[in-house]
Amino acid sequence: MPVITCIDDLKRLHKKRAPKMFYDYAESGSWTEQTFRENTSDFEQIRLRQRVAVDMSNRTTKTQMAGQDVAMPVVLAPVGLTGMQYADGEIKAAKAAEKFGVPFTLSTMSICSIEDVADNVSQPFWFQLYTMNDDAFTKQLIDRAKAAGCSTLVITLDLQTLGQRHKDLKNGLSAPPKLTAKSIADLATRWRWGLGMLGTKRRMFGNIVGHVDGIKDPADLAAWTGDRFDLTLDWEKVAKIRDWWGGKVILKGILDVEDAKKAAELGVDAIVVSNHGGRQLDGALSSIRMLRPIVAAVGDKVEVHLDSGIRTGQDILKAIAMGAKGVMIGRAYIYGLGAMGEEGVTKALEVLHKEMDVSMALCGHRDINNVDENILLVPEDFEGRWA
Ligand SMILES: Cc1cc2nc3c(=O)[nH]c(=O)nc-3n(C[C@H](O)[C@H](O)[C@H](O)COP(=O)(O)O)c2cc1C
Repeated sequence: MPVITCIDDLKRLHKKRAPKMFYDYAESGSWTEQTFRENTSDFEQIRLRQRVAVDMSNRTTKTQMAGQDVAMPVVLAPVGLTGMQYADGEIKAAKAAEKFGVPFTLSTMSICSIEDVADNVSQPFWFQLYTMNDDAFTKQLIDRAKAAGCSTLVITLDLQTLGQRHKDLKNGLSAPPKLTAKSIADLATRWRWGLGMLGTKRRMFGNIVGHVDGIKDPADLAAWTGDRFDLTLDWEKVAKIRDWWGGKVILKGILDVEDAKKAAELGVDAIVVSNHGGRQLDGALSSIRMLRPIVAAVGDKVEVHLDSGIRTGQDILKAIAMGAKGVMIGRAYIYGLGAMGEEGVTKALEVLHKEMDVSMALCGHRDINNVDENILLVPEDFEGRWA
């Protein structure tokens, strides 16, 4: 077993062990990838204030997100095709999250279905909804999530149409992979992955196949999903979906103060400041740069979470200090999963927790709930002056 000390170690193993088309799918931003890169590099511009001779015993990272107790302010973000990074990936990640005491969010575009995950965990998980232009299918997904006991609906607002990711087109991304000379040559070197996949039946989009008439193989599925995202989605429709669900709702993909105000007016349980990990609007500002303006505008009306670019526990600490109640992580746990399944997701959570906890102590704090902007050194023009 290799010595894992940081998320980058898991990323290297993920690259080695998962088929190239799935590693590339995770490690992509849209078009030039400027926003994808800046999501992480902007965190590096913020520095932490070292404090000394402060009692650092009896520390805690426990808090609440959207009214739920969490062992640390982290949620596993919805990630499509997770079950292609590692066999039964969504189930493995959900189990690791449950054992650690943080919520897991299942994507609409998962390989394991809502029911598959529910059968394998004992605590309620969160379900992420992509709104489809077929209301009957959207309602069916909502009903299935309710029946499976999901506690929170995360509605993603920043993907009504897909930002282009060049690598996916070049690799011919599909689930399961199409067998071409190139993909067979690549799969031949990923024996661990192949063995896992041979041992599971879950190899297509589990929330769709078997739930929509006429979809039997990947070609039917690709044609169906290609034009199913709801181009007409607006705030009225968001309110309607919130009412269909009738429980806790989080709106994901807010990056603008005006949109944050509209979300807060709807009276949802939380919003996630996010640019989808740099996979949608290339040229948008990083999430961490937009966090303070959004917290200043709506922080007293709605709980604010952040994702996009979290790779270390120090990043989490910075987001919390800037006013986020918690963060979602995407790639940080996907690297762990692709590297070594459930154990890898647990490792990713342990790494992030230790980095956050020790750094919090070195900043002079014992309780994550008391961390504030005083621990930060932020460049004066961090948010930028844009005309
Ligand atoms: C491979 C991949 C697939 C994703 N699929 C979804 C998805 O199905 N639904 C969704 O709301 N967000 C999806 N996202 C976005 C994540 O939920 C999250 O916003 C993003 O990963 C955060 O950035 P990070 O990866 O830098 O942590 C995806 C992200 C990645 C990397």
